[in-house]
Amino acid sequence: MPPTKVDIPRLRLPITTPRLLLRAYTVRDAPRIARWLHDREVTRTVPLWRSYTLDDARTFVRKARRGVRAGDTYLLAITVRETGKYIGSCGLEVRSARDRRAHLGYWVARPYWRQGVASEVASRLCEAAFRSMGLHRIETGVVRGNPASRAVLARLGFRTEGWARDNFRIDGEYRDCEMLGLLASEFRPYVPPTKPVIAGPNVRRKRGA
Ligand SMILES: CC(C)(COP(=O)(O)OP(=O)(O)OC[C@H]1O[C@@H](n2cnc3c(N)ncnc32)[C@H](O)[C@@H]1OP(=O)(O)O)[C@@H](O)C(=O)NCCC(=O)NCCS
Repeated sequence: MPPTKVDIPRLRLPITTPRLLLRAYTVRDAPRIARWLHDREVTRTVPLWRSYTLDDARTFVRKARRGVRAGDTYLLAITVRETGKYIGSCGLEVRSARDRRAHLGYWVARPYWRQGVASEVASRLCEAAFRSMGLHRIETGVVRGNPASRAVLARLGFRTEGWARDNFRIDGEYRDCEMLGLLASEFRPYVPPTKPVIAGPNVRRKRGA
């Protein structure tokens, strides 16, 4: 007998955090996405094409809108509450409704790094996933050599569960990926700083850190 279909409650959008607003994408966002993802420092740790084009961004927006309509994938725009400025993307994708399990992802435009933005949005999405959607587990993968993302996940309570060898192919090179998971009972919400989110100098990541 096929398993009973499980309905996952929908998230109500937009979602707010103390400093940020997570909203559904619109077609008008495509040029902004393409502009931020033109920065190789942002895309070199995520499985995206080296040259991310406006067409790629439009395709992404269509997928994001389909996901929100379906209620199982929330690829959301990160904007600064005070200014409305678009500064990145975060996503929660239900991978198995039956098992109440989802996947988490995010990127932040480089001028906004190291201000707690990723931690603030990831924390809020995890909270929404566990409390509003009733999910049990969130998982994600981090390419070896991405200490910033590891730091974000560790502070929320994610634990390393293993390594997926040669999981991503980035710049023609296969890269190992650390697989991390978080159960609802382990989640530690992040309390963001009160400092406003502003564009800083383009922080360069320490290579191989
Ligand atoms: C990973 C990423 C989303 C982090 O965004 P962010 O808004 O700067 O993250 P936060 O400010 O919330 O936290 C980053 C933490 O990593 C730490 N960090 C950053 N670079 C680091 C480095 N080279 N070594 C060690 N820690 C580092 C920061 O100090 C910070 O911790 P702190 O608040 O205790 O100081 C951002 O760097 C990014 O978009 N990278 C490219 C895309 C990507 O890798 N996405 C994730 C895929 S799994």
